[in-house]
Amino acid sequence: MDKRFKILQVGCGGISNAWVPHVQARDDVQFVGAVDIQLKSAEALIAKYGLGCPAFTDLTVALRDTGANLVIDNTIPESHHEVVAAALRAGCDVFGEKPLAGTLDDARDMVRTARETGHSYSVMQNRRFIKNNRSFQKIVQSGIIGQPGFIQSDFFIGAHFGGFRDLMESPLLLDMAIHTFDQARFVTGAHAVSVYCQEYNPPGSWYKGNAGATAIFEFSNGMVYTYSGSWCATGCNTSWECFWRVSGTGGSACWDGEGAPWYEIPETDNDPASFIWKTGKVTPAPDWEGHEGHQGCIEEMFTALLEGRKAETDCADNIHSLAMVLAAMESAKTSQKVRIDS
Ligand SMILES: NC(=O)c1ccc[n+]([C@@H]2O[C@H](COP(=O)([O-])OP(=O)(O)OC[C@H]3O[C@@H](n4cnc5c(N)ncnc54)[C@H](O)[C@@H]3O)[C@@H](O)[C@H]2O)c1
Repeated sequence: MDKRFKILQVGCGGISNAWVPHVQARDDVQFVGAVDIQLKSAEALIAKYGLGCPAFTDLTVALRDTGANLVIDNTIPESHHEVVAAALRAGCDVFGEKPLAGTLDDARDMVRTARETGHSYSVMQNRRFIKNNRSFQKIVQSGIIGQPGFIQSDFFIGAHFGGFRDLMESPLLLDMAIHTFDQARFVTGAHAVSVYCQEYNPPGSWYKGNAGATAIFEFSNGMVYTYSGSWCATGCNTSWECFWRVSGTGGSACWDGEGAPWYEIPETDNDPASFIWKTGKVTPAPDWEGHEGHQGCIEEMFTALLEGRKAETDCADNIHSLAMVLAAMESAKTSQKVRIDS
């Protein structure tokens, strides 16, 4: 039977395993092809999930011959522009892995191409779709801790990937911090307007490029956001979602990236003249009901297409998160504070 979504899977490596089972579980999809520059990878993915579609190494041929109307781009960051632009011009909508693109020029071109073709390009930001992250956002945006003036996230993980990340110039900033910077925007609902960043490769690092960075951002609402991270930190690791702290005019909120977030606000019986005010800790029960991680983001992308609206992680929004990453990289290169104009 003819299905609403005819899917061309492009890029058949590790992360496609986080996509295909969730996409395949839908009633309204049909895989019409799988493309990888390594034919064996496309064939292996088709066999593993019983996709029953042909394998290709040439995207142009696949777009021409399969009748696809939805491309899933799971290629490496350097290929996103080429794949997404070709898919949009061929009349397809695109769901793609982060980061949106490798450069801001490419990202702007992709946003423009989506607008001009009338198709959509939605970007995977699976960390938005975590129940406890939604709860953290709700605390911060509810006003219970007042107006946020400062937000901080710490990311320290010792990850031995092998593969393309070991060779990238800025693996932490480009491949990982995009999640964290997008979370900072998600939690606060504000955009970054400038950044100063120092990037470095810590002693003992097994990465060729810079696996460590510290950045200070200014946000559109006057808030300061600091980020410190390392992808070669052995021991005392944070979660992949970071440890977060937001200080507001009326209190503070924290999330360890795993359990339920909490906030602390002054007790009502404080003597205003006392040195440090007593505070009470509150841990609201998270009440968000959606699916988490990749599944949640994929469902939002499909729902947006069916409802004829832009997805929460549409490229025109996501470019603000990518701009933070690229500006941080530019600041690290020039040792200058960089304005962010996405
Ligand atoms: N959202 C997340 O949590 C998360 C986690 C891991 C990876 N990712 C992202 O997923 C993407 C892929 O990462 P991965 O770990 O699967 O990498 P990978 O190297 O395992 O797989 C990438 C595949 O793309 C293929 N490829 C590269 N260029 C291509 C092109 N032009 N056309 C067709 N195929 C091409 C490669 O041959 C390879 O099979 C990256 O953008 C990465 O940042 C996201």
